[in-house]
Amino acid sequence: MNAPRAHQPVLLREVLEALQVKSDGIYLDGTVGSAGHARAIAAQLEGGLLIGLDCDPEALERARAALAEYGERVRLIQANFARLDIVSDGLQIERVDGILLDLGVSLTQLDSAERGLSFRLAGPLDMRLDPTLDTTAADLVNSLSEGELVKLFNDYGEERYASRIARNILQERRKRPIETTTDLVSIIERSVPARVRYRGRIHPATRVFQALRIAVNHELENLQRALEIGFARLRPNGRFVVISFHSLEDRIVKRYFKSLRENARVWGPITPSAEERAQNPRARSAKLRAACKLC
Ligand SMILES: C[S@@+](CC[C@H](N)C(=O)[O-])C[C@H]1O[C@@H](n2cnc3c(N)ncnc32)[C@H](O)[C@@H]1O
Repeated sequence: MNAPRAHQPVLLREVLEALQVKSDGIYLDGTVGSAGHARAIAAQLEGGLLIGLDCDPEALERARAALAEYGERVRLIQANFARLDIVSDGLQIERVDGILLDLGVSLTQLDSAERGLSFRLAGPLDMRLDPTLDTTAADLVNSLSEGELVKLFNDYGEERYASRIARNILQERRKRPIETTTDLVSIIERSVPARVRYRGRIHPATRVFQALRIAVNHELENLQRALEIGFARLRPNGRFVVISFHSLEDRIVKRYFKSLRENARVWGPITPSAEERAQNPRARSAKLRAACKLC
């Protein structure tokens, strides 16, 4: 099997422009991952601090190696960004100058078959980014009712064939539990019309995998909470920068930033240049939105 691809930071120049890093400022990267953005932020600090969070301990180890040269300028903590207030309190930091959330998963995670995140790789149907979470994707697929599966695929995947896929999942799991990515992909492929299976713009399993990943990791709830507590923790003139990769996330960010009205200057969406899109396919769906706190 091929080695996981190295993750390239998306919209790097645009993130730095939006954050306007001050050399003595305190910055929080809530999705430090392979530290692509974090390295560029840390490189601009002198006397300042970068706090890097990731809920995936393996990602955090990659970040640790990538940021080693920055020593005391960086603190890395395994935590969910929805708990950034608790993490800051633990470090006795009340306010920060900037927060970055680069949502979703990295290419490295996607290419690790044992995480079960990719419909292209055979692996267990897991999908947890934080391995201490209780529920895996297999747990959901094997325990939710047909109606609950339809709702999940509709709400979190906007999946057109949600009913057929749910019906076939129920039929299949009466014979034996659905435990692997390949089991699920073959059910989905059987559930969609041939024209979608062979000629669709995206793989027919894309939306169901997205829906399950969102549910397993509570992605939308965590995002909403991180926006609220993160904004409260910004200093005046502090910047909040979020990169999202699908419309459900982007809608939450857009609505929340809009709700800030006279408390913030907001801008975006900023999308990658044609050059970046050509060079990094993952960047294609990225949207950056930013807010600068006014008071
Ligand atoms: C797109 S990657 C970030 C890549 C990083 N910006 C870079 O340039 O290398 C997203 C990372 O956020 C982590 N993540 C996703 N949801 C999280 C959450 N709620 N709390 C903390 N980390 C999260 C994932 O484990 C993953 O490592």
